[in-house]
Amino acid sequence: MRSFMGRDILSLKGWERAEFFHLFDVAEDLEPIARKRQNSDLLAGKTLLTAFYQPSTRTRLSHEAAMHRLGGHVLGFSDAKMTRAGDFYQESIKDTVHMLEYYADAIAMRHFQQGAPAEAAKWSSVPVINCGDGWGEHPTQILTDLYTLHRELGTIDGLTILAVGDHRMRTMHTLGYAMSQFASELILIGPPDMSPTPEFLAELDELNVAYRVEEDVRDCIHEADVIYMEPVVQADYTAGRIEAHDGSGRTPDAYKVTRELLKTKARRDSIILHSLPRMDELPPDVDSTRHARYWEEAFYGVVMKMGMLALILGAAE
Ligand code: CP
Repeated sequence: MRSFMGRDILSLKGWERAEFFHLFDVAEDLEPIARKRQNSDLLAGKTLLTAFYQPSTRTRLSHEAAMHRLGGHVLGFSDAKMTRAGDFYQESIKDTVHMLEYYADAIAMRHFQQGAPAEAAKWSSVPVINCGDGWGEHPTQILTDLYTLHRELGTIDGLTILAVGDHRMRTMHTLGYAMSQFASELILIGPPDMSPTPEFLAELDELNVAYRVEEDVRDCIHEADVIYMEPVVQADYTAGRIEAHDGSGRTPDAYKVTRELLKTKARRDSIILHSLPRMDELPPDVDSTRHARYWEEAFYGVVMKMGMLALILGAAE
């Protein structure tokens, strides 16, 4: 297995099965620290820089929370408009990263341009973590989701995972790549204009991922062990920032998971993951059903990132 120390986390394409489980083992060892709401000193003396060119609630703050839980330091920006990359100068990724690499021991970056974290990694002598790049990938979200399955279901194999929503989404891409390492099946459902592209499906074929494409969640939910959701009323992920949703657009029933649908058609032991934020595809009254696991995901996201940061910064082997 390749060492994690100093490794960029840009994509889950190419990750081996043993690497997922090694990360999850390290995360699970560290989990009691977060469970007890304590901080440790495992990464004392190390600093994480969060460079977020797009809005985020979960991804940025869970990286920062993980670093604090391990006694490390955090600095960064959450609004590129307040940096030289977002004003008159439009400073390039290369010039920006040549600065940032001296300010920290790892850089967690979200960007509206697909490939921007990979470009940053070319110029950085410290590891770069892709926290979402345009419509590209979102590796730390899917690692969070898989760690949640590992902890909640005890397995990532033998599952039928219904992935419903916008298949242009970066999470959907990373989920597909990751599934090449697990003996589970994907059922992909989304509106025609948000369907997986033929190029992406060809990649899944090449990676020997078991999947099929369906049209309506109501026809397939009874098969699902895991219902993985993304909105279809969606922001443009190639934009730096979209102001408030204008209220137009409602999610068609074919891509919605309601309390009634769960009661009448879903398996009793199925669970729902959602990377959040949500729109109307997942009504709030689902939150109190036994299927909901998206709040647990918030906790597991911190724990997984504790493991990941400990590994790439050399505090765990
Ligand atoms: N899941 C996710 O990426 O959420 P944020 O946009 O709030 O980081």
